[in-house]
Amino acid sequence: MKHFIDINDCTYEEFMDLLDLADKLKAQNKKGISHHVLAGKTLGMIFAKSSTRTRVSFETGMYQLGGHALFLSSQDIQLGRGETIADTARVMSRYLDGIMIRTFDHQDVVDLAEYGSIPIINGLTDLMHPCQVLTDLMTVREYKGKLKGLKMAYLGDGNNMANSLLQGASLCGMNIAVATPAEYGCDLNCIEQARSNAAVHGSEVLITTDAREAVKDADVIYTDTWVSMGQEAEKAERIKIFKDYQVNSELMKLADNQAIFMHCLPAYRGLEVTEEVLEGSQSVVFDEAENRLHAQKAVLVRLLAPQAQI
Ligand code: CP
Ligand code: NVA
Repeated sequence: MKHFIDINDCTYEEFMDLLDLADKLKAQNKKGISHHVLAGKTLGMIFAKSSTRTRVSFETGMYQLGGHALFLSSQDIQLGRGETIADTARVMSRYLDGIMIRTFDHQDVVDLAEYGSIPIINGLTDLMHPCQVLTDLMTVREYKGKLKGLKMAYLGDGNNMANSLLQGASLCGMNIAVATPAEYGCDLNCIEQARSNAAVHGSEVLITTDAREAVKDADVIYTDTWVSMGQEAEKAERIKIFKDYQVNSELMKLADNQAIFMHCLPAYRGLEVTEEVLEGSQSVVFDEAENRLHAQKAVLVRLLAPQAQI
């Protein structure tokens, strides 16, 4: 594994190895055991969009692994004034050991990897959010003890989260149901990849506009904001279009009675999820947020110190 940009680039074995290492790092972290396997290494973190979890968990993760993280707002570096991705990639590769980037156009992340000579981590694009989904699957496994054969239902916008969940859940042998309004469906390549993963595992992919059909007997109910970063101007229109996809107590009752509720956060109470569900006993959102730290440390170790023994 040279980069972590798109879950579809990972083999099943590589993805499972990341999940296993994340579990191990979390258990050791709780016991106060640390590994400074990234001593002397620097991660550049380019942000063209806001972030709480991604920024803080990557910076803390680098510190815990003995390395250093540099926050680079795209507004403050020459990229924001028109320096190309190709030049940025080649220059940064002379200083840094890896780059984590959060931006709009997914192709910019692919280009950064192509022109640079260091590992690139996708910290969210308009198309995908792989670090979040690695974390989510770690969290599901913690709560349910397995992934294969479980059913995940995602409701709402067919956005970056939905695309990566389709890829990641299907790679791990989960059944995945995605309910979105017809005009707001997922990326067609990601749906295709999910179907081909499902064929390997004998699992199912359901793409529907019916939230109730998707949620039926699900073990995991997942939602995300209806207004992603960059879509602020469409907020009023989107709130009307997505209203039937709200995760509320009535919808939760259609799922398995042991189902967990997940959300990548930030959440907008009263829109995609009610206060009652978000703060309710089935919600695991803050464990999920914590696990960003552990899951991303696993990615950092495998990409920046592939020989490290942990
Ligand atoms: N879930 C997530 O990526 O959160 P941030 O936008 O706060 O990084
Ligand atoms: N879909 C959301 C995820 C935020 C973590 C966005 O792109 O804004």
